[in-house]
Amino acid sequence: MITGEARVVTNKEVKPGYYCLRLHAPQIARMALPGQFALLRCTTGNATDPLLRRPLSFHKVLRQLGEVSFLYQVKGKGTKELSRFVPGQTVSVIGPLGRGFRLPSIGPIAVIAGGVGVAPLVYLAQMANEQGLEIYTFLGARSSDNLLADPDLVAASTSFFRATDDGTQGFKGTIVELLNQAADQITTCTAAYICGPEPAMAAAVSVCKKLGVPCQVSIESVMACGVGACLGCTCRTTRSTKYSRVCTEGPVFDGMEVIFDDHL
Ligand SMILES: Cc1cc2nc3c(=O)[nH]c(=O)nc-3n(C[C@H](O)[C@H](O)[C@H](O)COP(=O)(O)OP(=O)(O)OC[C@H]3O[C@@H](n4cnc5c(N)ncnc54)[C@H](O)[C@@H]3O)c2cc1C
Ligand code: FES
Repeated sequence: MITGEARVVTNKEVKPGYYCLRLHAPQIARMALPGQFALLRCTTGNATDPLLRRPLSFHKVLRQLGEVSFLYQVKGKGTKELSRFVPGQTVSVIGPLGRGFRLPSIGPIAVIAGGVGVAPLVYLAQMANEQGLEIYTFLGARSSDNLLADPDLVAASTSFFRATDDGTQGFKGTIVELLNQAADQITTCTAAYICGPEPAMAAAVSVCKKLGVPCQVSIESVMACGVGACLGCTCRTTRSTKYSRVCTEGPVFDGMEVIFDDHL
């Protein structure tokens, strides 16, 4: 884990309300694995609001350039402040943190993302593609405006399916309806990787369970320390401890061990 200042290479709005931040951070780029995350300080100088760093998943890692990127949605104060950073400024970063995804030795794999949940799965797909695994990608969002079909993810995918709730792009319906339609294809997968809003993740895990496909999920929670000390980030799991720390035991968990009971 490295703590340091990283220079902003670019910080572009890719769709209204969604940004891609590229940082020059060679040491972090050397170590970061798919599914891991970093804590970013969203303020500059002596400003302290917001005080807590914000967690973002590695979206892409360009090792030869010593760069990492983050794809983020502006939600509140922290991400709003982050969107104001310009090239040449520095951002204080701690990372890589947490446990990432584990890839199987044979595919195909299913990549299932809702909204900005696609962020960690782009790096995962890049790695899976380098290992020669076939990738079936299922991307869902409320509307075309929220569908983040990253060109590198499209290129890495053997087949790429889109769904929007309002039908403005791809299949008209939810990602779960799309998954149910593609059940024959998903059944052939050796693993599925899921990230998105919690109700959609819970439903996608249920589909995988029904089809007998092992799955991993990337869980989000509000974080403080990021290193397992404050217990502020716990989620319910079937482990003997009942609760697991998202920052150290996750953010990637086996989909079957996370208790999403509010949504099922
Ligand atoms: C391991 C991890 C990886 C993440 N990766 C990404 C990513 O790649 N891209 C991305 O856009 N976001 C990601 N997030 C979520 C991101 O950290 C939050 O959206 C961000 O911290 C919100 O900060 P804010 O100051 O803008 O909003 P706040 O003012 O803190 O909150 C605004 C609203 O968002 C809700 N919120 C705050 N934090 C979270 C959270 N962690 N999960 C869900 N809702 C939250 C609050 O309850 C509130 O309603 C990740 C979270 C975790 C834990
Ligand atoms: S954020 Fe402190 S224990 Fe996870």
